[in-house]
Parts: sequence; C-alpha cells; structure tokens
Amino acid sequence: MTQQQQIQVDPVSGALGAEISGVDLRAPIGDDLVEEIRSALLDNHVLFFHDQELDPEAQAKVGARFGELEDYPFVEPLAGHPKVIPVIKEPHETSNFGGGWHTDLIYRPQPSMATMLYAVEVPKRGGDTLFADGVLAFRALSARMQDLLTTLRVEYNVRHLAHTMIQRGNGASTGNRSMPSRVDKAVLDTSPVHPLVRTHPETGERALYFSREHTINFEDMTPGESRPLLDWLESHMTQPVFTTRFHWRKGSIAFWDNRCVSHCALNDYQGERRHMHRLTIAGDTPR
Ligand code: SIN
Repeated sequence: MTQQQQIQVDPVSGALGAEISGVDLRAPIGDDLVEEIRSALLDNHVLFFHDQELDPEAQAKVGARFGELEDYPFVEPLAGHPKVIPVIKEPHETSNFGGGWHTDLIYRPQPSMATMLYAVEVPKRGGDTLFADGVLAFRALSARMQDLLTTLRVEYNVRHLAHTMIQRGNGASTGNRSMPSRVDKAVLDTSPVHPLVRTHPETGERALYFSREHTINFEDMTPGESRPLLDWLESHMTQPVFTTRFHWRKGSIAFWDNRCVSHCALNDYQGERRHMHRLTIAGDTPR
C-alpha cells in the first residue's frame, strides 16, 4: 500500500522548480518525508518553500537529513554553527555574493551536491535568484553538438573568479565586505577538471555542468581557444526557456541540486539589506 504523500509539489515553470507546501521544516522530519522531498528535488531540480521559521541550528538539522554538511572555504560560518554561512549585502554595498551564473563549489574535486538557502531578511523588491536547468539545455542541442561537448573537460579554479568577472564587465568581485571572509589556501591551489556533460548519479540524466566564472579553459586547450565556446555555453544554458526565477520572502527557502542546476543572485536592490543563511551538502566526483 502506498502511503499518502505528505507534501504538495507545484511546479512553478515549464523548465524547472517546484513550490513545496504542507510542511513545517521545524518539526521532526521522518524518513518518509525526507524521501518525498528528495524525490521532488530529483524531479524538479530546485524546490521552494515559504513561511518557514528556521534558526541556524534547525536549518543545519534539516540539511543534514539530506547528506553530509560541508565547510565553505571563503566565508566564516555563523558562531556556533560551523556549516552555516551568512550571505549578506548591506544597503551601502554595491557588489553581491553569487552574482554571476555558477554551480556551488565546482572548483573542488567533489563539488556540492545541493545547497539550502534560507531568507532571514529580504529587500522590499529585487534580490531574486535565477536558476538554469542543465538537463534541458543539454537536451536542446543537436546530436552532433552533444557528442562534441561530451568529449570536453573543464579545468576549474576559484582564482579565475575575479578575472572572468572583470573580463565580462561585471566588476572585480562577487564578494561582499560585510561577509566575514577567510581563505582556504588549499582550495585556491586546487584545479580540478570536471566533465562538461555530467551524468546525474541518481537520475542518470545528462546535464551541461558548468560554471563560466570559475574557468578560463577546457582541459588541454588554451584560454583563447576555449573562450568563445565557454561564453556561448553560458548564453545557451541561461536562455529564459531553461530558467526559473525565485522571488524571496522572509522565511523562504530554496533547495537546489547543484549536479544539474546553475544559479545567479540578482543584484538589483541597491540601498536595501538582504540577509540569507546558506549551507551546502557534500557531493561526489562528477562523471
Ligand atoms: C549563492 O550563490 O549561493 C547565493 C545565491 C543568492 O544569494 O541568491
């Protein structure tokens, strides 16, 4: 006998994303509920929840139901909550965190499986987050192009961030001075190479897996040779038809699967404060 579904799953766009209702994430989360949410994530690639009241401890507890929480190498975590980082932009600040299209921690040998972002304080308008679906973007390509891209591997390094942002006229940094920074030198010195087309370890779907701002070249190719295709891939993958846009409220959560989704935080709320809490869940080696 199948048990009745505990959550309601309402897709929010033709591409990806679903709003989840009928759940209070502060309450104990049983295995059935974890499985329902996990299955909704695999089907929709990003999930949105509203009206949740989660302090950092409760958020970490929810996140840990889906996998091992990991450290973030460049921002000091919240005091007493080593796996939760603040993502803050103060009214006087102009650059934001996560303001270019990317996939979380792709510059590590084992990038994040998923990210859970919780809205503590949001601007009156703006500050939305965009999500792009790598599976749909890959599927839309010609068979010849799919074959070609499947042969390519991308070299990543977080040091490229400033370089690629400047080159594309997006400013020197996506960092934010009010966020307490730290530097994990070991991560800076690591340059993993990942397949451009990733097979999702749970669904078997193939996705464009790619973060333009953390790379300047394909493996065994020069930056000059790589640039036109890297730029084209980003513009292809982020076409509106492959995306969805999330409008935050205080107490909203976005929970996304980094193995097949890229995202970008809009920086269109100058003079207002935006404050989020973020955790990431450890992933495996992309294949
Ligand atoms: C991030 O890139 O993880 C932050 C996204 C956001 O603040 O909307």
